[in-house]
Amino acid sequence: MENELKKLEKAATEAIKAAKTSDELQNIEVQFLGRKGELTSILKGIKDLSVEEKKVIGPLSNDIKNGIIQKLESARAEIEAKAIEAQLANEFFDITAPGVARKIGKIHPMSQVQHEVENIFHGMGFTVADGPEIESEYYNFEGLNIPADHPARDMQDTFFVDKKHEDKHGRLVLRTQTSPVQIRTMEKYGAPLRIIVPGRVFRNEATDASHESNFHQVEGLMIDKDISLANLKGVMAEFLTELFKKEVNVRFRPGYFPFVEPGVELDFSCLICNGKGCSVCKRTGWVEFMGAGMVHPNVLKAGGIDSKEYQGWAFGFGLERLAMMRYGIDDIRLIFSGDLRFTEQY
Ligand code: DAH
Repeated sequence: MENELKKLEKAATEAIKAAKTSDELQNIEVQFLGRKGELTSILKGIKDLSVEEKKVIGPLSNDIKNGIIQKLESARAEIEAKAIEAQLANEFFDITAPGVARKIGKIHPMSQVQHEVENIFHGMGFTVADGPEIESEYYNFEGLNIPADHPARDMQDTFFVDKKHEDKHGRLVLRTQTSPVQIRTMEKYGAPLRIIVPGRVFRNEATDASHESNFHQVEGLMIDKDISLANLKGVMAEFLTELFKKEVNVRFRPGYFPFVEPGVELDFSCLICNGKGCSVCKRTGWVEFMGAGMVHPNVLKAGGIDSKEYQGWAFGFGLERLAMMRYGIDDIRLIFSGDLRFTEQY
């Protein structure tokens, strides 16, 4: 039996050496070690041997079996390595060639400022509200106390959509301001309210360095019992101080907007000269920032709110102007030019 085993070992070793593919190795494994394989059938005879013989043949057959397994494994590894080597020889891969740089996108500077504004107002308990960019004439004008023959309409020349609304809401316009969302939100949620409305607006403007026909505003509205312009002053000073990360003062001047009474213009202290006077603030020490005022009773009424019980203030500012001051951009037309040399700087 010992001889038989030695013969078998030799035969297996030679077969493994001659094998060229892993399939061949697989067949060899079955032939010698499989359930019906040659080694297995020899081992079946061990039970008929004497105890002395068993002591010799047992360990020997085990060694032979393990030897064959090991040889099969290293032959397999060798065949695989050769296959990879052959594949690499066929492929050309220049590891010194420069890679393809992938550009990582980022948030547009206007959206960055908008998110910052939203975050700051969020911190003061304001909700972000939204409204349609194609608006009815009613929400854009009449509801805001600007009837059809009102001279204030001249300030906001706009684009009309060539389609009529079915009901009292009149023609459709590209909204000229975010103020219509004041009424929409009052109608929907009632009082009290604390919202800001960032959004796109449109005007029939001749474009230049500070005018675009398509820009963004942020509307603000706070309605509750016992609200005055003092609250607005505090909120805006806090907002601008947080945004510019620098103590900012605000002041009111009288202003006129049909949807507020009294109406004000809000200026903030010039960040460039700290109020001393420079070319940015036209030597006044103040930068004009936004319109605001106490919401007109007619507007509260349009929103379904009882002006005897509730009052509040509203404001509206241009987001592009704010971004331009924040980042030192001197031409509004750059903002939506789509020129990556511009946007990549922010
Ligand atoms: N909607 C005005 C505009 O586009 C800005 C404005 C002024 C909004 C006063 C207000 C406000 O809410 O109270 O010129």
